[in-house]
Amino acid sequence: MDTVKTVGIAGTGLIGAGWAARLLVRGLDVVAYDVAPAAEAKLRAAIDVAWPSMLKLIQDPNPKRGQLIFTTDLAAMASRADFVHEAAPEREALKIKLFRDIDAIARPDVIIASSSSGFLPTRLQSECKHPERVIIGHPFNPVYLLPLVETVPGERTSKDAMDRAGVYFESIGMHVLRLKKEIDGYICDRLQEALWREALHILNKGIGTTEDIDDSIVYSAGMRWAFMGSFLTYHLAGGPGGMRDFIKQFDPTLELPWTDLPFPKWNDTLEKRLVEGCEAQAHGRTVAEIEAKRNDVLVDMMHLFKQHGVGAGLVLQREEESARKRATRWTRGAKIAAPVARHRGIVQSAWVDYNGHMSDAYYLLAFGDALDAFFRYIGDDEAYRATGQTFFTAETHLNYFREMKAGDTFAIETQLIGCDEKRMHLFHRMLDTKGELVATNEIMQLHVDQKSGKVSPMRADLFEALSAVKEAHKNLPKPAELGRVMEVKMK
Ligand SMILES: NC(=O)c1ccc[n+]([C@@H]2O[C@H](COP(=O)([O-])OP(=O)(O)OC[C@H]3O[C@@H](n4cnc5c(N)ncnc54)[C@H](O)[C@@H]3O)[C@@H](O)[C@H]2O)c1
Repeated sequence: MDTVKTVGIAGTGLIGAGWAARLLVRGLDVVAYDVAPAAEAKLRAAIDVAWPSMLKLIQDPNPKRGQLIFTTDLAAMASRADFVHEAAPEREALKIKLFRDIDAIARPDVIIASSSSGFLPTRLQSECKHPERVIIGHPFNPVYLLPLVETVPGERTSKDAMDRAGVYFESIGMHVLRLKKEIDGYICDRLQEALWREALHILNKGIGTTEDIDDSIVYSAGMRWAFMGSFLTYHLAGGPGGMRDFIKQFDPTLELPWTDLPFPKWNDTLEKRLVEGCEAQAHGRTVAEIEAKRNDVLVDMMHLFKQHGVGAGLVLQREEESARKRATRWTRGAKIAAPVARHRGIVQSAWVDYNGHMSDAYYLLAFGDALDAFFRYIGDDEAYRATGQTFFTAETHLNYFREMKAGDTFAIETQLIGCDEKRMHLFHRMLDTKGELVATNEIMQLHVDQKSGKVSPMRADLFEALSAVKEAHKNLPKPAELGRVMEVKMK
């Protein structure tokens, strides 16, 4: 298993479909197996729901999509896969049998992972001839957006299988949490279970409604948990002395009866409060409507976290960095497109105003991304900026021609109007999927040495690249919007 190209999915419900979507958008092929023939239509519908959110997350409107094959034949799946991920119902006997059957067919180097929420891998590998390749790869719903996967070894799992699984999961944009040994419920579900049990106790005792209990998380702890977890949050709660002082301060509370961890005894009143409470919280919205909102918020949170370099944003940062490394750079003698089109984007949900149209400020953001892509093309990257050399914007003009809605995709072309060793004058056109002009941006960039704080000549190789672009663009017609001035003549 040097490179995983085709992944077999066993069980294509909520989680299996989430895996399939995550893989297809990253160009991997998927052979999806389910015992229910009707599962194929559900799988394809679930991928369609996931697709727009994934595109917004990775900010690529047109990724190379992998091929999806659906089968009700286990052998057809297991024999073709370079990696198998099981996502069948959480029933231990069913999973043990499924692992035995997949293990009998899949190549011995193929890792077989289970999405199980809590079973011990030692049990799942118990009837396999190659138990060393069986691991837990526990994801979180929605699998196509949330980046965590807990990997858990069984008693007979090899270190090599755990290592290779880690490399594979990272390559599909995940954060790998590798457990040192197995335990029922792994880490995250144990924590979630503790909170869930306590929440049910509070509901059962009539202390608050489902909404009150959720609010206690949504307006406080949940916001911190999302990027600091529990321990780092408490490290700050101790003041400048951190966790050392926190323990001194709060140690006595550990003795207090602040939790009732065994499940409350199930009863009709509790069930009624639970179900009616959640339905009231939904305020008439369907599950699909709440899911769509959840996806939009998750995507925006991850982008925000990326900017701050915290939590789940780090995974996104890593994926974007490797995409940037693969991006084309100018090389001597290379053919240069006229104009150069280096950036494609997708209108994010947070970019639209009260009319449902992309707000002015975000056009500038999108043109800024195109400018970054052009900089990178001529050789201005992190390494260059680390030397203290960079470009500053001196002047920019925008013209708007068409509205864009959330989810619309666009491409931005760059035309070099003029340059010398210290300046570049660029013109960008934003085009929609039909090639219609959406907006234009004219921009003057000055090259600055940040140490001296002065405008200075750019490095010779950058200027060589820029000069080559100038030569390629010299016969392009001048854009009609160039140098445009706005004025309402006074009578
Ligand atoms: N739902 C979650 O939030 C969540 C999160 C993380 C992990 N998991 C775990 O993922 C696994 C799947 O959960 P789900 O929520 O997707 O369930 P699901 O009921 O939505 O999907 C299960 C799918 O498996 C198929 N199936 C049934 N028997 C099968 C068999 N013998 N072989 C192959 N497919 C079979 C079903 O037809 C169905 O399509 C479970 O182990 C669950 O604990 C679930």
